[in-house]
Amino acid sequence: MTANISAPLSTTQSGAPVTSDAHSQSVGADGAIILTDHYLVEKLAQFNRERVPERVVHAKGGGAFGTFKTSSDVSKYTKAALFQPGVETDMLIRFSSVAGEAGSPDTWRDPRGFAVKFYTSEGNYDLVGNNTPVFFIRDGIKFPDFIHSQKRLPGTHLRDADMQWDFWTLSPESAHQVTWLMGDRGLPASWREMQGYGSHTYQWINAEGERFWVKYHFKSNQGVKSLTGDQAEELAGSDADFYIRDLQENIADGNFPSWELNVQVMPYEDAKTYRFNPFDLTKVWPHSDYPLIHVGTMELNKNPENYFAQIEQATFAPSNFVPGIAASPDKMLQARIFSYADAHRYRVGTNHAQIPVNQPKNQVNNYSQDGAGRYLFNAPSVPVYAPNSLGGPAAVEPQNPAGGWENDGELTISAHSLHAEDGDFVQAGALYREVYNDGAKARLLETITGAVGGVKSPGIKERAIQYWTNVDAELGAKLRANLGAGEGESAAEAANKL
Ligand code: HEM
Repeated sequence: MTANISAPLSTTQSGAPVTSDAHSQSVGADGAIILTDHYLVEKLAQFNRERVPERVVHAKGGGAFGTFKTSSDVSKYTKAALFQPGVETDMLIRFSSVAGEAGSPDTWRDPRGFAVKFYTSEGNYDLVGNNTPVFFIRDGIKFPDFIHSQKRLPGTHLRDADMQWDFWTLSPESAHQVTWLMGDRGLPASWREMQGYGSHTYQWINAEGERFWVKYHFKSNQGVKSLTGDQAEELAGSDADFYIRDLQENIADGNFPSWELNVQVMPYEDAKTYRFNPFDLTKVWPHSDYPLIHVGTMELNKNPENYFAQIEQATFAPSNFVPGIAASPDKMLQARIFSYADAHRYRVGTNHAQIPVNQPKNQVNNYSQDGAGRYLFNAPSVPVYAPNSLGGPAAVEPQNPAGGWENDGELTISAHSLHAEDGDFVQAGALYREVYNDGAKARLLETITGAVGGVKSPGIKERAIQYWTNVDAELGAKLRANLGAGEGESAAEAANKL
């Protein structure tokens, strides 16, 4: 008997009606169940396969759909269709934290991911950024080591302050991002109340083929607000999904969050003589050198209807460019251009781009075929190879030049070339002294006192005090006093003991 006579009939995955959702087929009412009960087998087997691997980083997140409207005229910098005046583009965003697993509390201190997929008329454009304008490292070859140091020890499966500070202090290029992370931006009040950054330097190309270097800034119209350490800790226990809930409830109530997109634009030639490496992801460009130029507004106005189908299976890739937007010589960006599409093939499958949330709105024409889960295909009349003389899709290279740049030098393995102002601690110190007010400075000191206080190794602890002294001498002295540490060994002595 059905509980609700208007409910549709339950069926197998193949559509045939089933007799019961509650009772398996058995030999007599209390007897053994039998393998011919294929619906029972199908249910259990599907359940066993419900999970795909969680993202290796940024596993905990949530998202929403919305629209991006270009309201200013930046056509002299890019010919990208989505950034032409008046154009409205559907988009998807996924916010996330970085180091925690899929079920981890939203309010643990971390950078927050800010991944945007624009469904443009020229294909999907993905801008996979964070809520901070810089990053911990400047060469992608260090990324797996960096992430290992922030996740769990293989033996105890515990997170470990020693390994975090060991990595950071031996990677001084991390100082700028760690100063952001340990400051108020490490604990946003909600995803709505934080900024978003593309972080890398990207390339824009206009209709005349002129090239520019750009950095993206999304400014929250909700303002920037942060949690205190105590509030974040309390929420981590009482409502681990606080950010997901906040976003969903605001959108459901019609309180649509929005951001203004601005860009900094550097003329192509300036990069050759700029006073530091403009492609170094650990640096920002001072606004006094390259002021913000308004582009348009992003509004989030639709909650996903199914988390797994539309958010977990969403695949964002820094390699998804559209005409008028391209890569730059940033070594981190280049590593990411490989890494994400590879992760998607593993995590979601080789045909992940055919899943509705990832499908572009324009037509896809190419010669790829088959593979697990493939269901879109070319008409039988379309040839399966190129070049062909049968009218199959053909690339039109002269109309769509890939963004390039001049390269020189021998094949080498080396650090970034040195520029006059390339110090690792310069911008971290400026952030602390010139951007943080007294309250923010005090909270940073309290946070690093707690974080460095958790380090067990005296050598690593001393290096961490030295690291903060390099950011700002007074801050380092206060940290040393808070930790009750003597002058101790120098950073170099401690490093030599490793
Ligand atoms: C996610 C690699 C640096 C922002 C991921 C994923 C990988 C990855 C493999 C999981 C992708 C997936 O399974 O869908 C790397 C590597 C980096 C790097 C190798 C350095 C070379 C960065 C930087 C940013 C960033 C610099 C921000 C500026 C994100 C975001 C996500 C993510 C927002 C989550 C995307 C989503 O919501 O699906 N990263 N990452 N990553 N990464 Fe990175």
